[in-house]
Amino acid sequence: MQTLFTNIKELLQVREASVAFVAGADMNILPTIKNAFLLVEEDRIATFGPMESCPTLAGKEVVDATGKILLPSWCDSHTHLVYAGNREEEFKDRIKGLSYEEIANKGGGILNSAKTLQATSAESLYQQSKVRLEEVMRLGTGALEIKSGYGLIPEAELKMLRVIKRLQEETSIPIKATFLAAHALPEAFKSNKMGFLRNMLNEVLPVLKAEDLASAIDVFCEMGYFSPEDTAEILQAAQAYGLVPKIHVNQFNAIGGVAVGVQYNARSVDHLEILTDADVAVLQGSKTMPVALPGCSFFLGIPYTPARKIIAAGLPLALASDYNPGSAPSGNMNFIVSTACILMKMTPEETINAATINGAYAMELEEEVGSITVGKKANLILTKALSSLTVLPYAFGSSNIEQVYINGKPI
Ligand code: NIG
Ligand code: FE
Repeated sequence: MQTLFTNIKELLQVREASVAFVAGADMNILPTIKNAFLLVEEDRIATFGPMESCPTLAGKEVVDATGKILLPSWCDSHTHLVYAGNREEEFKDRIKGLSYEEIANKGGGILNSAKTLQATSAESLYQQSKVRLEEVMRLGTGALEIKSGYGLIPEAELKMLRVIKRLQEETSIPIKATFLAAHALPEAFKSNKMGFLRNMLNEVLPVLKAEDLASAIDVFCEMGYFSPEDTAEILQAAQAYGLVPKIHVNQFNAIGGVAVGVQYNARSVDHLEILTDADVAVLQGSKTMPVALPGCSFFLGIPYTPARKIIAAGLPLALASDYNPGSAPSGNMNFIVSTACILMKMTPEETINAATINGAYAMELEEEVGSITVGKKANLILTKALSSLTVLPYAFGSSNIEQVYINGKPI
């Protein structure tokens, strides 16, 4: 089957030859074609170009995109969208003045989500998660990563990973699975962190490998959670299983975790709300993608990742939702892109690069999605009629999407 988009006001993120990611000053360059066509064959981008060279319409499904913008769907490289229940009671506590940390210290936070998840059946977990996944797909997400990490006991981590696998098998968009081995220390291991880590790794890694449940490993490297030394130990153990590191780091404190991530060739280092000059220096010359999660900063009222500092240092930056029940209960990438412009002072062009090709790189999908390139998956966003691409982030909270296409088909 062939679908031909004609009269596209502007086709965004056009890369004749795919790039792995864009960095520094290049992030502000978003290649586009005005008055364009794009042809989809089966599930792939077959060709595109200016309207003058548009192929004949005969025998094709034609979508007239007059006045509308077409761009690659969002690549959300950091989510926890498999979770059970939610944490609206903690939300009210925070409104009354308790901090994220204070809530976690009284047994709320990640431990609260773990308790609920442990008591939830795999079927129910799958059903709850599928609703969220379908919602973010309608909001334009065409590839994403999902982490475990709310199990905190091996059996429940495996339950999460198997639910992620089922979502991978039953969903039409690429999903990457990450084993978040160390998210918080459960009560039972309060004074035995090493025991917790050994148990988790020894019990989960062999099963994960046998059942092919994940391609990446994650750790929450933070004061009061897991140290840079713990992080190194986990990333070391994961090497034997071929798992790619992607770590939570520098959310509240800079404690040297970025350097550990880079040392172990982390694909991405995520959060970075607190970022030192030493962290920036370590990232320069590495292949590690910094990932900002502005939904978390917005929801918790913590600092925003210093995008200008990162980009000025010549580094790349990706944007992701962090969709989770505690610090970012929304997977809406349109909101993420707006927030990055409004509060992180990124340009619209930078945010689109960050939320497409750089997000794809952060989850090792840059050859499959993230740009308008022949052979890539036809996962696309068709906007409503817009005066320019700037309206996408500018009109925050508005629904600017007319239709999402996954594998070339409208959803
Ligand atoms: O990425 N920072 C660690 N993990 C999640 C939040 C976890 C939670 O509060 O449930 C995050 O923000
Ligand atoms: Fe996260």
